[in-house]
Amino acid sequence: MGRAVPHPVSPIACRAPAKVNLCLEVLGRRDDGYHELRTVFQAVGLYDYVRVGESETVDLSVARGAPADERNLAYRAAELLRSGCTHRGAYIELRKRIPAGAGLGGGSSDAAAALSCLVDLWGLELTAEELVAAAAAIGADVPFFLGPPTALGTGRGDVLTPLPSPPTTWMVLAVPPLRLPRKTAAVFAALRPEEYTDGGASEALGRALQEGRPLGSELLYNGLTAAALRALTGLEEYSAALSRVWPHWTVSGAGPAHFTICSSRDEAVELRRALHRLPGRAYAVPTLQPGWTRRPQLLPGLG
Ligand code: C5P
Repeated sequence: MGRAVPHPVSPIACRAPAKVNLCLEVLGRRDDGYHELRTVFQAVGLYDYVRVGESETVDLSVARGAPADERNLAYRAAELLRSGCTHRGAYIELRKRIPAGAGLGGGSSDAAAALSCLVDLWGLELTAEELVAAAAAIGADVPFFLGPPTALGTGRGDVLTPLPSPPTTWMVLAVPPLRLPRKTAAVFAALRPEEYTDGGASEALGRALQEGRPLGSELLYNGLTAAALRALTGLEEYSAALSRVWPHWTVSGAGPAHFTICSSRDEAVELRRALHRLPGRAYAVPTLQPGWTRRPQLLPGLG
């Protein structure tokens, strides 16, 4: 990997957005134990905040809601870069806003943000391909967070093709307080071959985006839904409770987060409020556009 060059020393802060899978299809099982996916990722405006600065060793602190050790993908990102490119240390501070283990990609996004900030902090010269390879080594969802905010993922979900982003669309994310250790593996294990699909739903969504059509709920699909409902105790009841408030919900990733499309910010804020009686949390968020910046002027919550 790249060599170290003179570098900035002041701490670097950035934000790490969540994602939803607008469409997620499982095509079949692969020889390596993974499943072949066809999925359309969309980044949304719910953020974790990451700050990195110089230190003797690699230290991670997490304000709340995620492990602060090598299980944390941001920590693995630092160790991977360090072993490949430099022997310098860094502290990484995470302020979590994205619920962990929900299917919203928070851990993967933190890792991509940490990679990107550490490359700057340590002054590493990596090509885009080297950075993406490092991201893929950390997790299948990590490369998406280094690229544009809308993309088709094939293979394990890590072979990416950029797609045009839809016009800014307001969504509500609904996250029940249901957690399951090794959730992704458990949901894939609960999947039945008759739930495999041929990729047609992702193609239809890709076509709609290419043609500049707005997102509609008829374009959304998640082939892991039935498996998630079987694997996660309590999810079926939560899903039914959501449907009594609002008709169209889609599961994101392996769940348990659900999301829906609203016609305006006001409608999203109102729907979020209407969900306050349900357990867990709800967020009104916009989809992100290609011009979104990881380094805004103001970073809330990072003193
Ligand atoms: O990507 P990650 O390592 O978190 O995936 C956890 C587990 O989920 C894998 O070990 C595999 O059993 C399952 N999985 C899969 N197909 C995918 C992604 C994950 O079968 N495309």
